[in-house]
Amino acid sequence: MPLLEISGLTQRFGGIQALSNFSFQMEEHELVGLIGPNGAGKTTVFNIVSGFYASTEGEIVFDGRRINGLKPHRVTAMGMARTFQNIRLWNDMTVLDNIRLARYSWLGYGFLDAVLRTARHGRAEHAVETRAREALEMMDLSECAEELPKNLPYGLQRRVELARALTGNPKLLLLDEPAAGLNSADVEDLIRHIRWIYDEFGISIWMIEHQMKVVMSLCQRLTVINFGSILAEGTPEYIRQHPEVIDAYLGDEKI
Ligand SMILES: Nc1ncnc2c1ncn2[C@@H]1O[C@H](COP(=O)(O)OP(=O)(O)OP(=O)(O)O)[C@@H](O)[C@H]1O
Ligand SMILES: [Mg+2]
Repeated sequence: MPLLEISGLTQRFGGIQALSNFSFQMEEHELVGLIGPNGAGKTTVFNIVSGFYASTEGEIVFDGRRINGLKPHRVTAMGMARTFQNIRLWNDMTVLDNIRLARYSWLGYGFLDAVLRTARHGRAEHAVETRAREALEMMDLSECAEELPKNLPYGLQRRVELARALTGNPKLLLLDEPAAGLNSADVEDLIRHIRWIYDEFGISIWMIEHQMKVVMSLCQRLTVINFGSILAEGTPEYIRQHPEVIDAYLGDEKI
């Protein structure tokens, strides 16, 4: 049974056909990539799969259950976590608090409830804090626990996002452009961390990424979309040489 099975996903925004009949499957413990030009519909796929948008047409089955229409926190509770294309951290709270509070908001609490619970519920909170510290350690961020995200270098902020996604012990991790804005040293560092989580924890990872170095070195297979439809699917080697992919997306300089 596939871990994730998407069939016939279709999405319109007003006059824009953002996705047309998008289908995709992934098995447990795969590391796969979703690539394509700006505006191709990549983030829209993640937004629908993770429950942020309700899709107009199509079906999504995750871990044996149909998840169409489930709210994001319900999808998270089933074992799917995601990061965002633009970093979404609370800048005036410590890194540790960012991760603890994320746990509560995924449990369906509002932000204020989460803050209050953190203050009130000693024992439950202790378990959440332990898990948050473990996630920080997984990303080599233990020393940053008490820092404010805005005071950290950008590469570390990206890793805090990863730690936050990992704190719920996901089976499937969706990464939306984890290397966006990173310099080449930070990209190397990110690649190492992603490979380590994948190898060590047996989770499945589906990532959107424009930096070809990242997808080519990490992913076992790639799906290319263009104008909301699948253009090609296959190994990085196959995709790299695919004439239509080169025309529509890769061009000469990126290969
Ligand atoms: N909430 C929305 N309302 C209206 N249009 C949207 C919305 N979200 C996405 N779109 C449109 O749908 C299309 C696909 O957008 P999407 O963000 O999925 O692209 P993308 O492949 O992630 O691009 P990028 O590489 O730039 O992040 C675009 O034309 C975008 O403007
Ligand atoms: Mg996007």
